[in-house]
Amino acid sequence: MPDGSNVIVRPVRTVRGVVRIPGDKSISHRYAMLAAIAEGVSRFHNFSAARDCASTLDCVAKLGCEWRRLPDGAIEVRGVGPRLNAPSEVLDCGNSGSTMRMLSGILAGQPITSELCGDDSLSRRPMARIIKPLTQMGARIEAAEGGRPPLKIHGDHLKAIHYKPEVASAQVKSCVLFAGLFAEGETIVEEPIRTRDHGEIALRAFGAEVEQKGNASRMVGGQRLRAIDAHVPGDLSSAAFFLCAAALFPGSQITLPEILMNPTRARLLDILIQMGLTVSVAHLEEHQGELIGTIEARGAAWKGTVLAGADTAALIDEIPVLAAVAPYSDGGLEVRDAKELRVKESDRIAAVATNLRKMGAKVEERPDGLRIPGGQHLHGAELDSFGDHRIAMAFAVAALRAEGETTICGADAAGVSYPTFFEELLSVTAG
Ligand code: S3P
Repeated sequence: MPDGSNVIVRPVRTVRGVVRIPGDKSISHRYAMLAAIAEGVSRFHNFSAARDCASTLDCVAKLGCEWRRLPDGAIEVRGVGPRLNAPSEVLDCGNSGSTMRMLSGILAGQPITSELCGDDSLSRRPMARIIKPLTQMGARIEAAEGGRPPLKIHGDHLKAIHYKPEVASAQVKSCVLFAGLFAEGETIVEEPIRTRDHGEIALRAFGAEVEQKGNASRMVGGQRLRAIDAHVPGDLSSAAFFLCAAALFPGSQITLPEILMNPTRARLLDILIQMGLTVSVAHLEEHQGELIGTIEARGAAWKGTVLAGADTAALIDEIPVLAAVAPYSDGGLEVRDAKELRVKESDRIAAVATNLRKMGAKVEERPDGLRIPGGQHLHGAELDSFGDHRIAMAFAVAALRAEGETTICGADAAGVSYPTFFEELLSVTAG
């Protein structure tokens, strides 16, 4: 039995209501980091409530950057400009791979030594993917065996590189571009598959010139950043849990105001529509280069699909919940090219397969994916979150249509990205 809270989820007949989703986690991390090295005071409305983003704020505070929560809930970050203070303590990134990987890019360009650590899950995650480019740029980085955390970064004068990462990772891309801010020359990151571009958009919002063409993003070093005021769009990856919950029941209806619509993330909506959810988006606006809109979704038929290649990369954070509800679909779900899921906060392929089997589902687990037949009936069970926020939330959704009640052990993991998730789920499923 894992540590932490247990939550019981009972079956429901429909999903109905309005959910205000907290600010996007990917954007909030990047805003906090860039605000720290900008000149002036930045303000962020609807900044993510995630524990992960609190880890980023804690780290920048240890680097000399003051921040505070304003009475209206906004976060104010007092930038220190391009030179951060040497930290007197280890920078604890908690569960957050984004904090460790992206902050390392900034630290590599500082003439200081800093140490970054994380919890048990983060300590198992691969960091060689950022150590390699940052070392090529001129930083010296010590890591535990196999390129795992903790990291000790000896920052230095950096030189620009043209980097072609082997894995498609937005965290790696942002890390290298952030280091590129401090490098001499033009830094280019050319990805095998285009990933989310919040790093590029945020850099531009803070005043830097960044060019994106095809799968390449490039930026000249030495550019100075200036503070911004921004509204963080609702996190589409958190919205995914409510969209999948609505998809489970024909006739259900959910409204999600002010959600991130960035095209590098919104592929999720195309896939959900293809799977039978009725989705419309209204009030499209742009905030600091990011698209935002209100989603209205209605449950109808729930069909299966195959996710592979660029779709798998684009939906990497949503695959746990899509897989958790796949047994209820006609036709099921096949996920290919998803090896990265094995090195997320948990081994998400194994976690999904284990929990689905406990609920009585048939699942084929593959090295780089899953095959889940459709048309299955699941029963409630005692499930483990595996300490992973997305697994805890995905199976709370799957439990809504199972027979009997489900216990999610270690459900407090949800707070890593969405502390109020269970309250919100209850509010749209009660009655
Ligand atoms: C993120 C990128 C993805 C994603 C993670 C957040 C980001 O990770 O899984 O939750 O904010 O850039 P990778 O870049 O490692 O694929």
